[in-house]
Amino acid sequence: MKILLTGAAGKLGRAILQTAEGRHEVVGIDSRPGVPGVHVGSCHDLSLLGPLLEGCSAVIHAAALHGGQRCDHSRTEFLEANVVGLQRLLEESVRCGVRRFVFASSLEVLTGRDWKATTGTFDESSPPQPTWIYPATKVFGEILCDMMSREESIETIALRYGRILHREEATRHRREILLPQIIARGVDHLDAAEAALLACERPYCGFRIVNIAPENPFSQEEIDRARHEPLALLEKEWPGSSARLEALGITLRWDDLWPAITTRAAAQVLGWRPRIKFPDYLRFAEDRPPVHHRPAAQYQTVT
Ligand SMILES: NC(=O)c1ccc[n+]([C@@H]2O[C@H](COP(=O)([O-])OP(=O)(O)OC[C@H]3O[C@@H](n4cnc5c(N)ncnc54)[C@H](O)[C@@H]3O)[C@@H](O)[C@H]2O)c1
Repeated sequence: MKILLTGAAGKLGRAILQTAEGRHEVVGIDSRPGVPGVHVGSCHDLSLLGPLLEGCSAVIHAAALHGGQRCDHSRTEFLEANVVGLQRLLEESVRCGVRRFVFASSLEVLTGRDWKATTGTFDESSPPQPTWIYPATKVFGEILCDMMSREESIETIALRYGRILHREEATRHRREILLPQIIARGVDHLDAAEAALLACERPYCGFRIVNIAPENPFSQEEIDRARHEPLALLEKEWPGSSARLEALGITLRWDDLWPAITTRAAAQVLGWRPRIKFPDYLRFAEDRPPVHHRPAAQYQTVT
């Protein structure tokens, strides 16, 4: 299958290029140079997009303004990039005969920016509660994808990603903060990429929303009860893991167990389940020493 990938030089984009190798022909575009073979330019530039979309069956739209850019872009700029830009790309995809459009949405649609304050269990039917402009643009984006699947002959899917973790960063560079996130809200970058490729390949009709998140083994009630003893709950699921965390110098906080997100739709619609889980991240961290200098730019994370 020929796939157009926007944001191909980003964290998710590069993981998709890696995962698709030998499986699909991926044409990448990014406004940032630096990845061999990826076209440099804006995915809002229709004169550039037309020729690249030629012969593509699917589009994966990973380019966006996101949390890391909140300080230097206005709300209007977020809307122009993430909503107007998306609609332009959807229209051009329809014009070029693309059948499948995969939109990188975010679980922030459900949780808002402050994951720590999140309580409750979320599935795809939970009401969105965007707390700032970034998740608001993702909600608008999902609505546009839904509308276009109804009005045009294109199938669309919104993958609501949790935190996309680069394992090198999460197990070495800022692991005290990032490693525990794989328990409840983080997905490994290669698992995130696999979900995007399955979203191009698997049969479904119309529009879908799918949470791409870890299979948090804990219920809301269990997490509530574990407020003062989160390690005890962790031990129940992964015996020995609290001592291993301690040996790595990582302190588990109660809110690392939040939120409880269900991923049944990912399994049903895409046949996707995370392959890389908390015990794998523990092992990665044990196998390689931490790095204490500033992380390289390509590993800086966003939501
Ligand atoms: N990283 C996360 O934790 C996370 C979580 C949820 C959702 N998402 C979503 O997943 C997608 C990918 O995120 P990421 O972590 O790879 O971000 P990233 O910043 O690493 O990559 C985004 C890429 O898009 C490019 N880009 C931005 N605007 C562009 C434009 N107009 N034309 C061409 N390229 C453009 C940037 O140069 C960048 O390389 C985004 O839509 C983001 O909102 C990310």
